[in-house]
Amino acid sequence: MEARWPEPPSSAASILVTGGAGFIGSHLLEQIIGRFPGLRVTCLDALTYAGSRLNIEPFLNAENFRFIQADLRDRAQVDEAVREAQPDWVFHLAAETHVDRSIHQPSEAALTNVVGSLNLMDSCRSAWGSHAAESKRFIQVSTDEVFGSLTEGKFSEASSYDPSSPYSASKAGADHFAFAFCRTFDFPAIVTWCTNNYGPRQHPEKLIPLMTLNALSGKPLPIYGDGLHARDWLFAADHTEGLWRAACLGRVGQGYCFGGSTELTNLQVVDAIIKNVATAAGRSEDEVRSQIVHVADRPGHDRRYALDWAKAQTELEWAPRTPFEKGFAATIRWYLDNPQWAAAVGGSRFEEWLNVNYGSRGREASR
Ligand code: NAD
Ligand code: DAU
Repeated sequence: MEARWPEPPSSAASILVTGGAGFIGSHLLEQIIGRFPGLRVTCLDALTYAGSRLNIEPFLNAENFRFIQADLRDRAQVDEAVREAQPDWVFHLAAETHVDRSIHQPSEAALTNVVGSLNLMDSCRSAWGSHAAESKRFIQVSTDEVFGSLTEGKFSEASSYDPSSPYSASKAGADHFAFAFCRTFDFPAIVTWCTNNYGPRQHPEKLIPLMTLNALSGKPLPIYGDGLHARDWLFAADHTEGLWRAACLGRVGQGYCFGGSTELTNLQVVDAIIKNVATAAGRSEDEVRSQIVHVADRPGHDRRYALDWAKAQTELEWAPRTPFEKGFAATIRWYLDNPQWAAAVGGSRFEEWLNVNYGSRGREASR
């Protein structure tokens, strides 16, 4: 099914995307800049370890694009960026996004995800003044992880918050500020929750790129615990269409869930990676599979996530469009074809992280 992106109203002339040098943000920029050349588009990003200039390089010469390197934790930098961009719509994606890193350094997650998000909302509130809800929109991009671990059924917009990790607690904090700003200040926020994204340009610390690159280079494939934790996977470009539709058609003060309806255990995902890599590299699947090692589980590891996206379907006319097999094959192909991207995004800082995260985990008895 082909993606359909509604035309924005004339009141939405300037768009600010935070975290645009990261994974999902770069897909959102690609879509908006490609589809709406008449809009002014600004990317605010601190270029932390997770952000890369490579991800925004294709847009740097576009006439309607501007990049502002700024840190959300610094209110003065945020105010300056908001003054410069004068945004009508804000898509707030910048965050510390890795659960494992948040376990090692919880305060980093809190500072960017809670304080940084609050800085941005409050700066927009000052810039927009009263009656902002008539034309302004603030899309607070959140995660299914705020609802905690699921035993049966699916989470929806009506589910209660029950975060397990410092990362999800910090995302929950930002969501609470967004809803509280709506009630207290008539702030025009909409919160969106999404399941696990996959696609090109995801940092190699995350499951799919990590396993793909390790499978290719003959390194261990570290499965946390029994590997039967389930995630629902959505192609990143499909997520960005949902975010756009939320801004165009969503109701202020509401939340919308986006999911891929493709629930897989981690072992199933890794198995699919092994098949793709074995074919591409001309190796036997068994040989690549022998790289799997079971390592100590992630503390507080949520067993399962899945979201019911019926409200987004009804109100936003959104549905996941990319069949998993197609999106997944294209994604693995992209990592295989772009080793220079992974090398540039990785580097020595990433090696240090791998030692911190996996060095102490050890191997568990094989299962
Ligand atoms: P990412 O880690 O790839 O990118 C995050 C970006 O934010 C980076 O470019 C980084 O430089 C920037 N950033 C971090 N701290 C900053 C700061 N203090 N100031 C300014 N910029 C800063 O993230 P992603 O996976 O693309 O996720 C984007 C958003 O979507 C996040 O808010 C995340 O919580 C949410 N989300 C992600 C997924 C997923 O599966 N990846 C699913 C649901 C929701
Ligand atoms: O659900 C949405 C969330 O998805 C987003 O909010 C997060 O920003 C994003 O990072 C992602 O969180 P996860 O923790 O689900 O993603 P990650 O890729 O880190 O891990 C996916 C699953 O794979 C999880 O169950 C842990 C497991 N895993 C991960 C790594 C990195 C392993 O078994 N081994 C690994 O080495």
